[in-house]
Amino acid sequence: METTGRADLPGELKYVQYEHSLEAQYLPAIRALISKDLSEPYSIYVYRYFLYQWGHLCYMALDPVDSSLIGVIICKLEPHASHSPPTLRGYIAMLAVSSPYRGHGVATALVKMAIDAMARRNADEIVLETEETNVPAMRLYERLGFLRSKKLHRYYLNGNSAYRLVLLLRPIDPDAAADLSLDDIDLAPR
Ligand SMILES: CC(C)(COP(=O)(O)OP(=O)(O)OC[C@H]1O[C@@H](n2cnc3c(N)ncnc32)[C@H](O)[C@@H]1OP(=O)(O)O)[C@@H](O)C(=O)NCCC(=O)NCCS
Repeated sequence: METTGRADLPGELKYVQYEHSLEAQYLPAIRALISKDLSEPYSIYVYRYFLYQWGHLCYMALDPVDSSLIGVIICKLEPHASHSPPTLRGYIAMLAVSSPYRGHGVATALVKMAIDAMARRNADEIVLETEETNVPAMRLYERLGFLRSKKLHRYYLNGNSAYRLVLLLRPIDPDAAADLSLDDIDLAPR
């Protein structure tokens, strides 16, 4: 993970929902920001898979002066059939904030916007995976009420394990909730 110095935010950031008309302007910056902290970058198709179908669940934090990208969250929302009855499951696939601007609440704001957008669309739960060594991400999500549902051993290509975290937005049958299993994986391990 990069360790550049902290910078003050350049004023009040603009938070905007992604839409297809913004692809040419922002997709390269989104890829660059997210791939900076990945051991193995996702292909362009992975980004398009999410952004084409669920752009309304993706938000960007922009510099108010030059509209450059400071942070982004990418999500999806689908029925999850391995629960009975099926749940509507939100999934936070990617989240990143430009390193000089971390620690100012930008990711917190993005995650809250995504949670609200998925809740408005009747999500029952929101899940994600994060590396167990990713202390800032674990703290952020647990502060927002996510719970550890499962440890995924050696989930990443670098051999690190992950936690699956879940935020329950409405009560789910406890038997079904216990069934968060490895075959639920939404994004191929890197
Ligand atoms: C994880 C990540 C997204 C967090 O982004 P961030 O914008 O720094 O997160 P926030 O500022 O919202 O929260 C971080 C901390 O800053 C604190 N904070 C919030 N608002 C603040 C403010 N106005 N001023 C100072 N600190 C603030 C928060 O309390 C939080 O502290 P905590 O350690 O107690 O949780 C960022 O570190 C990142 O991009 N990492 C690389 C990619 C990654 O790991 N993504 C997650 C994969 S699932």
